[in-house]
Amino acid sequence: MKHNLKFIDKELAQIKKNHIYRSLKFEKSCGAYITINDKKLLNLCSNDYLGIPATKFQVKQIQSSSRLVSGNDEQFRILEEKLARHKSQQSSLVYPTGYMANLGAISAIIKKGDLILSDKLNHASIIESCKLSDAKISIFNHNDVDDLKKKLQQKANHKFVITEGIFSMDGDYSKMDQITEIAQKANAVTILDDAHGDFVIGNDGKGTANHYNVSKKIDIYISSLSKGLGSFGGYVASQKNVIDFCINKSKSFIYTSALPSFLVEYSTKRFDSNREKYRKKLETNRKLLSSGLKEIGYEVRSDSHIIPLIIGNEKNAMEFSKYIFKNGIFAQPIRYPTVPKDQARLRVTVTAWLSRKDIEFTLSVFEKALKHFVH
Ligand SMILES: Cc1ncc(COP(=O)(O)O)c(C=O)c1O
Repeated sequence: MKHNLKFIDKELAQIKKNHIYRSLKFEKSCGAYITINDKKLLNLCSNDYLGIPATKFQVKQIQSSSRLVSGNDEQFRILEEKLARHKSQQSSLVYPTGYMANLGAISAIIKKGDLILSDKLNHASIIESCKLSDAKISIFNHNDVDDLKKKLQQKANHKFVITEGIFSMDGDYSKMDQITEIAQKANAVTILDDAHGDFVIGNDGKGTANHYNVSKKIDIYISSLSKGLGSFGGYVASQKNVIDFCINKSKSFIYTSALPSFLVEYSTKRFDSNREKYRKKLETNRKLLSSGLKEIGYEVRSDSHIIPLIIGNEKNAMEFSKYIFKNGIFAQPIRYPTVPKDQARLRVTVTAWLSRKDIEFTLSVFEKALKHFVH
C-alpha cells in the first residue's frame, strides 16, 4: 500500500505559516523584461549581469555520456584553455553547474582532519560541499578578518579558507586583500567562489581577486558560467595537479553526464564577444540606480550590481514584492533560509539590459513603494 506521507503536509503548512513558502512560476525572459502570467514586467532579478545579446548557435546532437566515458567534446578543451588563462591558472575544468563545481572540488580536496574556515554568508552550495568533506568546519563572522585570524589558530592537517568574491545575497565585496594575506601567513589554502564577480569586475572582467590585485594568491577558483557570462555551467581553475585530482576524485564530475557541447561552445562565443562594452554599460546602470535609490530614501548597502533592499520580516518582504509586481517590476523577495530570519530583502540586480528609461521607471515605482510601506 502507498504511504500517505502526511508529515509532508504538516511541514508544508508550517512553511506557509512562516511566509517562506516558494512556488514555481512559468516565465518568459526577453532582454530587460520578463513575462509572468501574461504580465510583462521589468526584470530586476536576473543574474545575466552583462546582458550580452544571445549569440546564434546550432543545437547539435547531445552526447549523453559522462566526460570520462565518451562525452568529452573538443569544445571543452577550447573553453577550458580560455578559462585557465582568464584566471591566470595552469588549468581549468568545466562542470555541469557552479553548484556541482563547488560540490565536486571541495569535497574531493578537503578531508577529515582538515580545517575549513568558511564565511558566515557563504552560498548554500559551499556549505553543502564543506559538510560533504568531513573536515572540521569553522564559520568566521561575515568578512571579519580578525575573527578569521583567530579561528585559523586551530590545529589541523591542512587549512582552507573559503569565501565568495561578491556575496550573492548582500552584494558586498569580500576583503580579498586582507583575507589572502592572513591565509598565506597561516599556511592555509585560499578557495574563492567568484560566481557573482567573475566576468563582471576586475580588469577585463577577471573577477574579485583581480579587482584587489591578489589574483596570484588564490589557490583555487570556483565560478559559474550562468551569471556574468549569461551562459550555463560552472568551472574550477587552479594549478594542473588540482585539476587532475578533480578529474579523478570529483564525484559530481565523474558520475554525471557531460554538459551538452553546444552549451560549451555557447560559453566560448560569449567569452570571445565584446564583453567590455557590456561591462561599461553595467557600471553606468549600477551608478544610476544606486544613486537614484539613495536619493529617494533607500539605504543602499552595496557597491556592486547586487543591491539588497532589506525589508525585515518575511511577510512584509512578500507584500513589498507584490506591490512592485502590480506596478510593473519583478524582483524576488529573498527569505529565510536563504538569508537569516527577519532579514528578508528584495535582491535587486542591475544588468546592462536596462535602459536609462527603465531605471527612471524603476525609481518612480520604488519611490511610490517606499511611501506606501513606510507611511
Ligand atoms: C556564490 C555562488 N556559488 C555558486 C552558485 C551556483 O552556480 P550555478 O547557478 O552555476 O549552479 C551560485 C548560484 O547562485 C552562487 O551564488
